[in-house]
Amino acid sequence: MWDPAQYSRFRDERKRPFFDLLARVDVESPTQVADLGCGTGDLTRLLARRWPSAQVYGVDASSEMVEAARRGPALASPRFEVADLADWRAPALLDVLVSNAALHWLPDHEALLGRLVAKLAPGGVLAFQVPANFEAPSHRRVDEVRALPRFASVLKPVRRRPVEALPVYASWLFGLGLTVEAWETTYLHVLPGEDAVLAWLLGTTLRPVLAALGPEASRDFVETLRPLLRESYPAQPYGTPFPFTRRFVVARRVT
Ligand SMILES: C[S@@+](CC[C@H](N)C(=O)[O-])C[C@H]1O[C@@H](n2cnc3c(N)ncnc32)[C@H](O)[C@@H]1O
Repeated sequence: MWDPAQYSRFRDERKRPFFDLLARVDVESPTQVADLGCGTGDLTRLLARRWPSAQVYGVDASSEMVEAARRGPALASPRFEVADLADWRAPALLDVLVSNAALHWLPDHEALLGRLVAKLAPGGVLAFQVPANFEAPSHRRVDEVRALPRFASVLKPVRRRPVEALPVYASWLFGLGLTVEAWETTYLHVLPGEDAVLAWLLGTTLRPVLAALGPEASRDFVETLRPLLRESYPAQPYGTPFPFTRRFVVARRVT
């Protein structure tokens, strides 16, 4: 379902929140670090660079993404593996668990966070970032097209996973005995190229939709969506402004 090349088209924009997240992870010299939903692995490599003495794992359910990650520059660490985060077994207790733009693909965040926290060593940190743009015009436009009779029934089972409000994440994590820092940021990306917002969505949000539709209906879907996105996000001479809100949580296991 994932296309590493399409996803990487807006690499810089997608990297930025990872750096903002990592800036709040105050762990000096961890020995075990994991990147959950590591995608093409370039951010996992940055973790390995920041903590060169740690064993770093990159875990992703997509074999295409993990293959792309393994093709990157050879390093003793990280170790990439194909696994579903819902049932990934960490080889050891982890000092840092990072997840950038991935947990929103999984259901039932309360249970998921419980399982992730159980993988943390005492003093370990869970840091994740998820998009919070589900009410943005981009998603409303996608929903408009999804609701058209020729797409609606096929797409009914393809659900979007909502992310929770920050106080909800905080209450679950405080309840598990962690300390929590949480915030939200809206980035104004200025995307280069023609139909830039469509290209952005083709790298992520539209993956499951187009996979369900098949090639012919996908073309129809994309061509129906294209003018709607042009209207909602008019291109400017300097690029297409695309506001994008993301939620961040950094939680530390105290004992
Ligand atoms: C938007 S990409 C983010 C990739 C990377 N973290 C980054 O920031 O560049 C989301 C990734 O989550 C992975 N993913 C989605 N659901 C997953 C699951 N249940 N288990 C493991 N990985 C999953 C996808 O395969 C994809 O590579």
